[in-house]
Amino acid sequence: MADYLEIAKQKFDALKDKKDVLILAVESSCDETAVSVVKNGREVLSNVVASQIEIHKRFGGVVPEVASRNHILAISSCYKRAIEEAKIESKDLDAIAVTYGAGLMGALLVGVNFAKTVAYSLNIPLIAVSHVHGHISANYISHQDLTPPFACLMVSGGHTAILNVEDYCKIKVIGSTVDDSVGECFDKVARVLGLPYPGGPVIDKIAKEGLDNIKFNYHSPLKDTYNFSFSGLKTAVVNYVHNKEQKHEEIDKNDVACSFQELVTQELVEKTKHFCEKEDVKKLVVAGGVGANSRLREKLSLFCEKNGIKLYLPNLKYCTDNAAMIGSMAYYYAKNGIGLADLTLTAKPNVDISIG
Ligand code: KG4
Ligand code: ZN
Repeated sequence: MADYLEIAKQKFDALKDKKDVLILAVESSCDETAVSVVKNGREVLSNVVASQIEIHKRFGGVVPEVASRNHILAISSCYKRAIEEAKIESKDLDAIAVTYGAGLMGALLVGVNFAKTVAYSLNIPLIAVSHVHGHISANYISHQDLTPPFACLMVSGGHTAILNVEDYCKIKVIGSTVDDSVGECFDKVARVLGLPYPGGPVIDKIAKEGLDNIKFNYHSPLKDTYNFSFSGLKTAVVNYVHNKEQKHEEIDKNDVACSFQELVTQELVEKTKHFCEKEDVKKLVVAGGVGANSRLREKLSLFCEKNGIKLYLPNLKYCTDNAAMIGSMAYYYAKNGIGLADLTLTAKPNVDISIG
C-alpha cells in the first residue's frame, strides 16, 4: 500500500509536464453509470453511459437504494466497453478519475470504490473530481476553443449558481440558490402534473404546445442579489394545480408548463444578464442538465447576440450526466496539481463549488 501511494504521487506529479495524458473517468453520482476515456482533457475517446431512467420512471423519481444496486450491476461492463471503444489497453492509462461528490451517497460509493480498485490494480493515480466542476468541463469537450476566464450559469439537478471561472481551477461562486435547484423545480412541477420522470425534458417539450397565460401567485424574491430562490415558484405552481383539482376544473398542462418555464427562465436570464452587464462579461458558459432547456438556450442566445457576448452551450449529449466531463476536469486538476486521492477516498453528498 505504501508503495502504491508513493508511485501514484510520483506519477501524478509527472502529469503536469506530460505531453499526452489519458484518463479513464467513472461517474455514478445519480442514476447514470458512466465510464469514459478522455485524452488531454478535450478529446473523448469513449463515452459509455448506462442510464437507469426507465427503472426509476415507475417510481416517479430516483430511488437511491435502487440506483446503487443498478450501478453495481452495470459498472464493470461499462468499464470494459469504455476501454474497448477507446481502442486502448488499460496499461495505456495515466490516471483514473472519479466523481466523489456531490450526489447520492450510496450511488457515489459504487463509483468511488470501483475507481479505487482500478487505480490500485493498475498502479496509477486516483483523481477525485467534483461533479459540478465536471458539468463546467462538459463545455471544454463541446468547444475546443473555450478557455477561461468566463462567467458560468450552472443549472443542474442539484445546483443553481452564477460562477466566475477565472481559470480552470479557480472558480468563485457569485450567487446561488437559497433553497431548491432549478432542476428540482422542473422535476417537481412535472410530477404534480402527472408527467414522467425526469420532468425537465417533458416540460420543455409540452411547453412548446402551450401559452404563457397563467398568472401564478408568485413574485420574484431576492431582487437585488445574484442569489436565486425557486421554492416559492414551485409552491405557487403546486397550489395552482391542487386548487384546480379540488374545484374539478380542467388543467391545461401545456399552459402550466409554458407559464412556469417562462418565469423560471426569466429569473435565470435576468440575474445572468445583470451580472454580465455589471462585470462586462465577454464569454458566457452554460452548465448542467437544465442547460438542455430549449427556451433557456433561446433567451440566452438572444441576449448574448444583442450584447456581443460569446455564448457557449454544452453539446446536448454532455449536458446531463456523463463521465467524459469528469475525465476532462480531472486533466485540468492534474495540470494544476490538485485532486490526487489516496485509497481512503470516500463519497461526499455535498461539495463546495469554489476552488482556488
Ligand atoms: O445536471 P444534471 O445531470 O443533475 C445534477 O447533476 O444534479 O441534470 C438533471 C436535471 C434534471 O432535473 C432534469 O429534469 C433536468 O436536468 N433537465 C432539464 C432538461 N433536460 C434535463 N430541465 C429542463 N429542460 C430540459 N430540456
Ligand atoms: Zn449532473
